[in-house]
Amino acid sequence: MFFRNKITAVKKKAVKDIDMSKIPEHIAIIMDGNGRWAKTRGMPRSFGHKAGVETIREIVKTCSNIGVKYLTLYAFSTENWKRPPDEVNALMMLLVEYLRKEVDELHQNNVVVNFIGDISALPQVCQDELTNAKNRTKQNSGLILNLALNYGGRDELIKAFKTIAIEIVNRNLDVDDVNEELISKFLYTKGMPDPDLVIRPSGEYRLSNFLLCR
Ligand code: FPP
Repeated sequence: MFFRNKITAVKKKAVKDIDMSKIPEHIAIIMDGNGRWAKTRGMPRSFGHKAGVETIREIVKTCSNIGVKYLTLYAFSTENWKRPPDEVNALMMLLVEYLRKEVDELHQNNVVVNFIGDISALPQVCQDELTNAKNRTKQNSGLILNLALNYGGRDELIKAFKTIAIEIVNRNLDVDDVNEELISKFLYTKGMPDPDLVIRPSGEYRLSNFLLCR
């Protein structure tokens, strides 16, 4: 209990020390390091993932309170399907649990829940909770919480180029129309600013197929 109070005091001080004139418009987080964090404590990876979700709760609240406009969380990549099925299932259930527990509070805090990536491959229960959270919060005007799920930067580009190619074949677009601005309109992040800050908690410096061309 003493320890918890101490952490809360440290967090309050950290928030107080933020220069409110320099708040990034868009923060992106590659949610990794959970497994390694648990391992150093002699705990299973699932323990690390649960702790990761707790941290995310705090981050979302803080970003919303200090006026960040976009927060993108790289929660499940197109490569993450290669993980053991038990781990994949546990991650999907954590997502469902997070959305069920948090959606009311997110809505009260004026947060808009959005997702990027091909969610059609996620279990139906995840798709339902995501659609529910999105519909419920779509009229809000605060923080836009972008959950990147079954997301991959390369996959995003392939989808964009295929759609553009179809538009050219159907003569709705001309090859000369293809430029940076046009491509950005075919990305999941259409209309959103590029991230000002990408955080990777594990300390790795790779982008790992996240928001490649920003
Ligand atoms: C990668 O690092 C982490 C993930 C693939 C999972 C992150 C997603 C969740 C915890 C699901 C819930 C999502 C939300 C948005 C509530 P790692 O844990 O494999 O750690 P490592 O890099 O140390 O191996």
